[in-house]
Amino acid sequence: MSSHRYRMDSPTQYGLVCCSVERQKLFYVGHCESTPCFSNEGERTVFPHADSAHTAMTRHRSSLYEVMVFKTALNTFNDLSLSMCQTMLKLLVSGEGMSRTGVMISIPQYPLYSAALADLGAVQISYYLDEDNCWSLDISELRHALQEAKKHCSPRALCIINPGNPTGQVQSRQCIEDVIRFAAAEKLFLMADEVYQDNVYADGCKFHSFKKVLFEMGLEYSEKVELASFHSTSKCYMGECGFRGGYMEVVNLDPEVKVQLTKLVSVRLCPPVPGQALLDVVVNPPQPDEPSYDTFIKERTDTLATLAEKASMTQEILNQVPGIKCNPVQGAMYTFPRIHLPPKAILEAKEKAQVPDMFYCMKLLEETGICLVPGSGFGQRDGTYHFRFFSLYTNKNDEISLGYVCDKCSGVLVQKELMGN
Ligand SMILES: Cc1ncc(COP(=O)(O)O)c(C=O)c1O
Repeated sequence: MSSHRYRMDSPTQYGLVCCSVERQKLFYVGHCESTPCFSNEGERTVFPHADSAHTAMTRHRSSLYEVMVFKTALNTFNDLSLSMCQTMLKLLVSGEGMSRTGVMISIPQYPLYSAALADLGAVQISYYLDEDNCWSLDISELRHALQEAKKHCSPRALCIINPGNPTGQVQSRQCIEDVIRFAAAEKLFLMADEVYQDNVYADGCKFHSFKKVLFEMGLEYSEKVELASFHSTSKCYMGECGFRGGYMEVVNLDPEVKVQLTKLVSVRLCPPVPGQALLDVVVNPPQPDEPSYDTFIKERTDTLATLAEKASMTQEILNQVPGIKCNPVQGAMYTFPRIHLPPKAILEAKEKAQVPDMFYCMKLLEETGICLVPGSGFGQRDGTYHFRFFSLYTNKNDEISLGYVCDKCSGVLVQKELMGN
């Protein structure tokens, strides 16, 4: 499977798409000629299971919630974060000077968030994940970041990526409850990016959706805390960026704001029908009485098992490299190993006006042809250096190729000319 290309050679996708075809071909034959170009809150033409999307994906069924599922498949939300997330942020950002909206994002972060905030002129409030504790989220760090930010802006939203990109951590249920209590106390709008919800590998780790936890915490929270959560067809076991489908679900949004959000969503045009069809089956996968069911379950299980194997192999092999320390890859598809650069390398980087981890990655690229992404692009604590490593590499000899990469990483780290003082 590949998240870069439009690819149909994975049986998982065959399962999903075949199911779509089997179940819905009659439906689509009747409707494709008049595929809607504009979204409309009541529209159900090409996304018939939108109503159940939120319950399926968050595994929490109830008609009590005020839930709104935006059928991004019916809107040109070509990029989940840039479009849906940015649309939501657009509604939240306002004010000038001290009253300018501040949005809390984790460091390290998926750079789309900082870019979206910069684009909207919002104030970025950085909170650091705890690298020494497997990139966990510490509420005292949130509190500290918020108190500092209140001196120069008006904090309104808190973004969480769980499971995390680039850090590969999975937040515990306790942590999610704490975050919800914190958001309630500080009146922050919660934005939960849960696009990697099916990619959880480590023993003892489990994905908990923010919405599910929120509604299990009682009315004090479930009727109060505003939440938007995101999911996408481009991640998990589907891994299909090419289909461009995803959705945002909002909870407890003020009805008047919801009207504005609907307007903003509605001005976008509709994406291609295949993306809409795929999203439909993602939120309503093959059922036991359907022909694709067995294939789908087998391929999903195999795909996730392979990813889990790669996650553990990545951590194990990277940790064998002197100068590299890698936290367990609990989920998502990435790890963010720390590199201990020799002082001379840091000096040389400064002389070249390069960030030290960029200097390291460039050196690795120039000397070995291996391309890694420097940690500075994602944010990191001052004086620490990292790179992001994608644990989805696909090669018949993964172990050998990973060993090769690590060998080269290590080779550059211990070069004689960089080791001096
Ligand atoms: C945390 C996170 N959120 C959102 C996205 C974007 O998802 P989509 O492909 O739907 O735009 C990514 C893509 O890498 C991601 O890592």
